[in-house]
Amino acid sequence: MAELTGRVALVTGGAMGIGREICLDLAREGAAVVVVDRTDPAETAAEIVAAGGQALSVAADVTSEDDMARAAAAATETFGGVDILVNNAGIFASLQPKPFTEIDLGEWRAVMEVNVLGGVIAARSVVGSMRQRGGGRIVNIASTTAFKGVAFLLHYTSSKGAVLAMTKALAKELGGDGILVNAVAPGFTVSAGVEANADHVNRMRDNAPSSRSIQREMVPGDIVGAVRFLAGPSSAFITGQTIVVDGGAYFH
Ligand SMILES: NC(=O)c1ccc[n+]([C@@H]2O[C@H](COP(=O)([O-])OP(=O)(O)OC[C@H]3O[C@@H](n4cnc5c(N)ncnc54)[C@H](O)[C@@H]3O)[C@@H](O)[C@H]2O)c1
Repeated sequence: MAELTGRVALVTGGAMGIGREICLDLAREGAAVVVVDRTDPAETAAEIVAAGGQALSVAADVTSEDDMARAAAAATETFGGVDILVNNAGIFASLQPKPFTEIDLGEWRAVMEVNVLGGVIAARSVVGSMRQRGGGRIVNIASTTAFKGVAFLLHYTSSKGAVLAMTKALAKELGGDGILVNAVAPGFTVSAGVEANADHVNRMRDNAPSSRSIQREMVPGDIVGAVRFLAGPSSAFITGQTIVVDGGAYFH
């Protein structure tokens, strides 16, 4: 039997990019997947169902408590609850690198609101269900920028640092409920968002492979194995940790 059979996973930012690959992978492993995105994520859910899996799509913004309550309620109504939350929705590729003195404060707030608060709102929306079901898993998608201290993206780098800290604090807070909280920190990944913003991300894209031990471009499929591990039975005594997935550029 597949490792996640009988489990229900809610994945944010599942319409495209890394989140879409995570949805498809968790479904292949047997999970019923609730695909959440502020862009209609119906295509990802339809692909899972067409392949014989179980999925539901909910158009929702992670920064809205009402939206996320609606997504969690839909998960409970259709699949009985939520066991796994993957906090993947984020703002990255659309950000133009700039000196920190020139980053618009509205953009700062939007990045922190989606990348940090969005994950907290999503966790609040499903924690009751996880407690009822006797435990759960939360996997936060961070970034190696937080370890490396990448310049000219101070808002993004800071937001991912907050995700790492939030992962540890929430792991302590929820351990007694059997809810394990971990993070995956990817390196620069050629995702749909990156492809759509090639004008300003191409410099990072060119530099990334040569900085790695495994010298090739990183794609969304490179991340899914670590997420699946942290969502499944093999990681049952691991919490508050971060797995770096970047082809051996930064050694964490
Ligand atoms: N691509 C990279 O190089 C890279 C590296 C490290 C970490 N990450 C992180 O991985 C995650 C996914 O990145 P990606 O490259 O696949 O991005 P992407 O832009 O291809 O996809 C992001 C998805 O999140 C959704 N989203 C954004 N804001 C949302 C909101 N408020 N509510 C609901 N959905 C929302 C978007 O609609 C989109 O479908 C992000 O958290 C990003 O920071 C990306």
